[in-house]
Amino acid sequence: MSPTPTQTEDDVAVIAKRWKDKRGSLIMALHALQDRYGYVPREAAMNLGEQMNVPLARIYEVLTFYNYFRLKSPGKHVVSVCMGTACYLKGAPQLLSQASDALGIAPGETSEDGEYHLQVVRCVGCCGLAPVATVNGELLAKVTGESLAAHLPSPSVSNDGKA
Ligand code: FES
Repeated sequence: MSPTPTQTEDDVAVIAKRWKDKRGSLIMALHALQDRYGYVPREAAMNLGEQMNVPLARIYEVLTFYNYFRLKSPGKHVVSVCMGTACYLKGAPQLLSQASDALGIAPGETSEDGEYHLQVVRCVGCCGLAPVATVNGELLAKVTGESLAAHLPSPSVSNDGKA
């Protein structure tokens, strides 16, 4: 599921503020965007360029140069578990294992039906809320296996009524 324009605007504003005027800032900001959504949505890249005064062409030069960056969502719903130090110490490994069991996929994998992608991210900048996870860019604070499961979107239902 793609993030809403308002959601990306808010997220980009926070990320741009954090990285603007710092050395290597564009790559770090793009990493932060991909950690948030599992890929770099075009609207977010455009918005980031405006806020950091970087031409869109330069942003895409970086995005296409590094294999790491994804321009399309790897799954319909992207679930990210933060394994940064603060989250790690507050139980992120167990949370990741619970998320993996709930989704039936290992970290870095996308479910066969393309519905879910599970990924590990490193510090999303909200350490005081650890452990942290995001679902389609929505931040979940002090998350538990149960609260994460409750936030997982149901698989899409096709036109013929089948999941
Ligand atoms: S370590 Fe998880 S938000 Fe910082």
